[in-house]
Amino acid sequence: MNMNHDNSDCVCLHSRRSTIAVLARQGEPLRLVHLGQRIDEPYLFEGQEYPELYPSVGIDMHRQDAFCISDPRTSERIPVQLLVAQVHNREDSLCLLLEDRDVGVSLSLQIHSFRASDLFSFQLSITNEADDPLVLEYASSLFLPLPFKTGTVTSFSGRWASEMHMHHTVLQTGTFSLAEQCGVRTTRYTNPSVIIGEGDRPAAEYSGTCIGAAVAHSGNYSIEIHAEAESQMLLRIAEPRMTSRRELQAGKTHTCPLVLLSHSDEGMTGLTHSFHSWAREEGLRDGKRERLTVLNSWEAAYFDFNEKTLKGLIDRAAECGIELFVLDDGWFGELYPRDDDSSSLGDWEVNPRKLPNGLCGLSEYCREKGLGFGLWVEPEMISRASRLYERHPEWVFASDRLVATEERNQLLLDLSRREVIAFIKEVFSSLLVPENGISYIKWDCNRHVHSLSGPPEVLEGYIRGYYEILSWLESSYPLVTIQNCASGGGRVEYGALSRTHEFWTSDCTDAHNRIYMQWGSSHFYPPYVAASHVSSTPNHITGRSIPMKFRCDVAMAGRMGIEMDPAGATDRELAILKQAVSDYKSIRHILTEGDFYRLCSPYGNEYTASMFSTEREAVLFIYCIDYRPGDWRAPLRLRGLLDDTTYRIRELNRTDSERHMMNLSKRMTADGASFRGEVLRIEGLPIAFSGQYESRVYHLY
Ligand code: GLA
Repeated sequence: MNMNHDNSDCVCLHSRRSTIAVLARQGEPLRLVHLGQRIDEPYLFEGQEYPELYPSVGIDMHRQDAFCISDPRTSERIPVQLLVAQVHNREDSLCLLLEDRDVGVSLSLQIHSFRASDLFSFQLSITNEADDPLVLEYASSLFLPLPFKTGTVTSFSGRWASEMHMHHTVLQTGTFSLAEQCGVRTTRYTNPSVIIGEGDRPAAEYSGTCIGAAVAHSGNYSIEIHAEAESQMLLRIAEPRMTSRRELQAGKTHTCPLVLLSHSDEGMTGLTHSFHSWAREEGLRDGKRERLTVLNSWEAAYFDFNEKTLKGLIDRAAECGIELFVLDDGWFGELYPRDDDSSSLGDWEVNPRKLPNGLCGLSEYCREKGLGFGLWVEPEMISRASRLYERHPEWVFASDRLVATEERNQLLLDLSRREVIAFIKEVFSSLLVPENGISYIKWDCNRHVHSLSGPPEVLEGYIRGYYEILSWLESSYPLVTIQNCASGGGRVEYGALSRTHEFWTSDCTDAHNRIYMQWGSSHFYPPYVAASHVSSTPNHITGRSIPMKFRCDVAMAGRMGIEMDPAGATDRELAILKQAVSDYKSIRHILTEGDFYRLCSPYGNEYTASMFSTEREAVLFIYCIDYRPGDWRAPLRLRGLLDDTTYRIRELNRTDSERHMMNLSKRMTADGASFRGEVLRIEGLPIAFSGQYESRVYHLY
């Protein structure tokens, strides 16, 4: 091989452990040289055909293309040959401008490296440089040849009350595709994230090569992975073709949704650490701040409450050591009181029949009891039975005016309209006055857009409006925490999360079901912002009965809260609940700062386990979900500990009453023991259960 060959057009962008290298020769197509493990000086092999990045329809023999432009008069597709025109390479970013001067199209690609987190972001814009309009049929945010011959795709999907279940698909040839066209609540069925492991098995937890990508956008998306007859793979993230066609006027630019990407040679855990670290640093509001414990009124009271009953609930929240009381749906509507879900959305003033002293009466009471006060609002919605609808039927989102589709008896407001944005800001301005003492908003969104919803520009305008209001809230009320809720996990993506503080994982609060959802969402989204509430038993959605300790132990692995009236608990359950809230506060800094490790999957196993580790401390969660009698179990090997450090173990959530009642033999708990990190890593911690829904939470320090 030629040792003095010309490497000068090979441009690299590094993160701590990975490198993206492209061949960016002036006047030639942009090509990918390397995506993977960090390499300081990639070698350009002579005669090697490096794959083109962002090829258009009609150019060469490409079987897949990144974008397509057509002529608005004839609908003919126009081949576009983009050639490198400018390259700006800085330590943490790479900006490339590609042009086809004959057609009059340019493409700007910005790749940013978040070095410490080992994560790259991709932002792509296409500009019509011609004198006449063009049609952009579709464009890809990311079009990335992958360094794998075959791969296994891991994705997360589900439905209402059953979000984020993990699925694996081996892809040797053909296409795997995920898409969402719900317009505004785009993680309801399928999360916009994917992991591709090299080879014909899912990426392992701690070893092996994989790539993880997530779309940071609250609108429609499609993720496709193509495998070409065991020769190469390709990842394409784009707007779905059905909703992406738009006219691009002369001089106009279309910017595609931001995509986040990470490469790991340390299995799925490597990816998880990258995404969690990026979320703490960049991807969440106040990402390093510990989240408060919450009692949310929904499952405790639904629509049936008044000031007196809520004060009782606040008393009991305070007794449990909770830090924030959140008043959910049902507090508003004067002419159309919100007593069920058939009316009132849009009329965001207090119902005086239920709350004669207004919101300030309640917030004042919370303050006396040492609690913060939060409020549920669904600002994007309008009910036909509302004063707002009487005044502004024209504010309803376009397609609903045409086809009158209702979901949960409600319609969407058109957030692409300035007057609607102004109205929603006014609503918040009047709610967030100092006397109301509101420090937390639960922003809900209980319906999505019908698939017939007009041109993509309207939806884009909607998402821009949604983001504008969230940014305005951030700058005008920086101390107000925002929970991102959309019938549960309908907006668990980094477009919404980067403008909010936490998310409501699911309307299903059954601890058994939550284990799977929390497991799934932990791959890309940090557990300390996944709201996880202890609810009553039998569970309101599944009817399943689960002991209080297990319910608490599951809630403690996320942002802990309560979703029930503690008055419904027995004395013993109440003692466990109080203990759990107090124990949670003593370890939540570990959840916030620590690295998360999935130790044993809930899929197909008797028990599941995970842990968070900081340099000095750790917290370990073990849940038996499918008890299989037998004495011996392989010890559980722990992660993230320092070999030479001795850790003491304190079992959390163990009340004295429980100790006596269970009369467990000593080997059932590690409470009080001390072990070196190396022992816990190599030999592991002995595990024992005596039945389903037994659980352990250990603090190691
Ligand atoms: C949605 C939310 C719930 C609750 C109800 C209120 O379903 O996900 O938590 O707020 O709305 O109507």
